[in-house]
Amino acid sequence: MTVFAATEANIDRAAASLRNGGLVSFPTETVYGLGADPRNGRAIARVFEIKGRPQFNPLIVHLANLEDARALAEFTWQAEALARAFWPGPLSLVLPKRLPSPLSELVSAGLETVALRVPSHKVAQALLNLAQIPIAAPSANRSGHVSPTTADHVVADFGPDAFDIIDDGPCERGLESTVIGFGEGSPVILRPGAISHEEIETALGRKIGFEPSSHAPRQPASPGQIASHYAPRARLRLNARSVEAGEALLAFGEDVPEAEGQTINLSLGGDLREAAANLFGALRTLDQTGAETIAVMPVPEKGLGIAINDRLRRAAA
Ligand code: TXA
Ligand code: MG
Repeated sequence: MTVFAATEANIDRAAASLRNGGLVSFPTETVYGLGADPRNGRAIARVFEIKGRPQFNPLIVHLANLEDARALAEFTWQAEALARAFWPGPLSLVLPKRLPSPLSELVSAGLETVALRVPSHKVAQALLNLAQIPIAAPSANRSGHVSPTTADHVVADFGPDAFDIIDDGPCERGLESTVIGFGEGSPVILRPGAISHEEIETALGRKIGFEPSSHAPRQPASPGQIASHYAPRARLRLNARSVEAGEALLAFGEDVPEAEGQTINLSLGGDLREAAANLFGALRTLDQTGAETIAVMPVPEKGLGIAINDRLRRAAA
């Protein structure tokens, strides 16, 4: 067995394994990550290989705190303000690497920048503190699949024996971190995620743009933003207000159309945070019913709904 409960002894063993170049999947508040030592080129190459991930798609480096992050990248005052507002938490900052860098070139896929994040999940924090190294971790899914929000999802993608998995139940947020870059000095959202646009604007006291690439995914500024990144096997029919024969239904809110096939409601009460937490698990479950098409009810394009709709559009592409 390679799925372990999140006991201190197991986390300690996982930390030692990471230090020795091993791969470990661990929970964060967003999704399960597939961790490796970012200073170890072989370990990072193995992460790309096992995920089937294009080498040009860089990884996020996780740290225990802001001080450790400062050792790896140059923080502008705006980056500093965002880190203070949201770390530990589901925000990733893309910043110029501090040189010379101990990080393998593979981590940032040859870019001069690196994406950094301080996770709040207690297991992720314990692992970072015990390992005493930064941990590079993409979402622990095969490239192109939906991100995993439980240890079972990780096993579904890689089998039980590919690497150790620390199981601490479902991830609270269920959506990946918001990725922010600093084109021309001003912050831009490269990937909408678990922290909303509005929350970021409130923290900065100013408006913040979306990098157009996140809506024109052919030329990604954040290379993970390729159109089909979250594709399930089934076809998705977005903005469905009725359900056709043979379709499964991904519902939202209490006004649910009649359906013969399986229905999962992201949030009966119309709560976007609950919907975000349920999204990837629901997509996986409905995909497994074998339905050819999943009808998806409209989700409001505001707050976390922006990130939810982003993932739904990608899953439909
Ligand atoms: O919530 C999360 O962010 C999860 C957990 C495990 O922390 N991780 C995650 O990693 O979603 P991944 O590899 O699936 O997505 C990383 C995203 C990609 O869209 C990638 O292109 C972007 O971050 N990214 C990483 N480094 C970058 C860089 N230097 N410049 C621009 N985008 C970068
Ligand atoms: Mg991913």
